[in-house]
Amino acid sequence: MQARSCLAIVLAAGEGTRMRSAVPKVLHAVAGRSLLAHVLTAIAEAGITATAVVVGPGQEAVAAEAQRVLPSAECFVQRTRRGTADAVLAAKSAIERQPDDILIVYGDTPLIRAATLTRLRAPLAAGAAVAVLAFRPADAAGYGRLIVADDKLIAIREEADANASERTIGLCNGGIMALSGAQALAILERIGDRNRKGEFYLTDAVEIARSLKLDAVAIEVEEDDVRGINTKSQLAEAEAVAQQRLRKAALDLGVTFVAPETVFLCADTKFGKDVVVEPYVVFGEKVTVEDDAVIRSFSHLVGAHVGKGASVGPFARLRPGTRLGAGARIGNFVEVKEAVIEAGAKANHLSYIGDAFVGANANVGAGTITCNYDGRDKHRTTIGKDAFIGSNSALVAPVEIGAGAYIGSGSVITRDVPADALALGRGRQVIKQGVATRLRGLKSLGKNKSHSRD
Ligand code: UD1
Ligand code: CA
Repeated sequence: MQARSCLAIVLAAGEGTRMRSAVPKVLHAVAGRSLLAHVLTAIAEAGITATAVVVGPGQEAVAAEAQRVLPSAECFVQRTRRGTADAVLAAKSAIERQPDDILIVYGDTPLIRAATLTRLRAPLAAGAAVAVLAFRPADAAGYGRLIVADDKLIAIREEADANASERTIGLCNGGIMALSGAQALAILERIGDRNRKGEFYLTDAVEIARSLKLDAVAIEVEEDDVRGINTKSQLAEAEAVAQQRLRKAALDLGVTFVAPETVFLCADTKFGKDVVVEPYVVFGEKVTVEDDAVIRSFSHLVGAHVGKGASVGPFARLRPGTRLGAGARIGNFVEVKEAVIEAGAKANHLSYIGDAFVGANANVGAGTITCNYDGRDKHRTTIGKDAFIGSNSALVAPVEIGAGAYIGSGSVITRDVPADALALGRGRQVIKQGVATRLRGLKSLGKNKSHSRD
């Protein structure tokens, strides 16, 4: 049998007033990824053939995010926000192409999974005109209630329009609906706005389908699949669920988390085998960690690649553009940005390495700073393989330290250092015999205790 074609319509035109934010709701992030990106990723994974995204007027940022995540997505503008059914009709020209199935997904349900979308389409193949994802939330407030009689879905009642007895119904609308492509327009165009809010409710599709003698069914799923986000509290709850899922997936892959609940991941964090992550580590976007690497406590990584068997932290900060080679070591209070640290190289204590290349097995001593910024431009520092940078050195970029070179500690290096050379970039040490004793004597004249150390 030929696979059924499917159009997904993502509704993202709402302002999200309840978020109390200037940022459009669907651009808020869960696990480092926008709500919209989560939804579009699930749609792509479900193998859906075409996607339409409905955005509000002036929401270019939302359209741009849709294009970034799913370049094939077509954006439609809902001119005035007149409700969810009106939003769907903004994509009317896509609906008119008559796909077999239409999936309507709200842009504010980021935890939806591909498998759930596929499940919702199954009743359409079996002849239903409408299928609705249902769930029983811990708190039903704000959700539409499903009215079921004799195992049949009769209607969806929005909370504002529900009477007291309807409000006691625990089964709610998850906000994801599948419509048969052949009947979709006939149903959608019959939806009116005679309700409390004066909006065109997509949820009325159920009653209309039934009046047309078509079947509507509800498919019940767990709350975590369909949590809708209207407020910052719900955003935080969704984050907690997303984190649990990501930690579980990493653990299943063989990553060791000493205390999983203290590790924060991004939807795109990638781990190899036998990686160990100590407690209290934060992974931002675009981090990959290869086999056998160890990420120690209180480290923060964004846009970094950690090579096989490398060691990071405790208290390390890896910023975007960091690439650590196999067995490299980045220790405590070391910040790395836009820098390649080749295999076996080390920066173990208190350093800033930015816009730099550190060759294999080089040793960057405690307190070394690459002075990459002159107040206007950024410059690069290159450290050759096997070089040794003495503690507390300032490498003033642009500068190149040759392979195997040795920099005396406390140096300020402003010129290139040839391979295997020794560079001392500091003032000469001066010795004045006995002066310390004299100074102490002077001090004790003014104080009772001559050995006060404070
Ligand atoms: C909606 C459902 C409710 C369901 C809940 C699940 C309706 C009428 N109600 O309520 O039954 O339980 O979701 O989370 O559908 N949008 C537009 N244009 C509009 C209005 C909304 O694009 O004119 C978009 C919003 O951006 C949002 C989605 O549609 O992504 C849902 O709108 P929202 O206002 O959040 O609906 P709820 O009140 O949550
Ligand atoms: Ca909502």
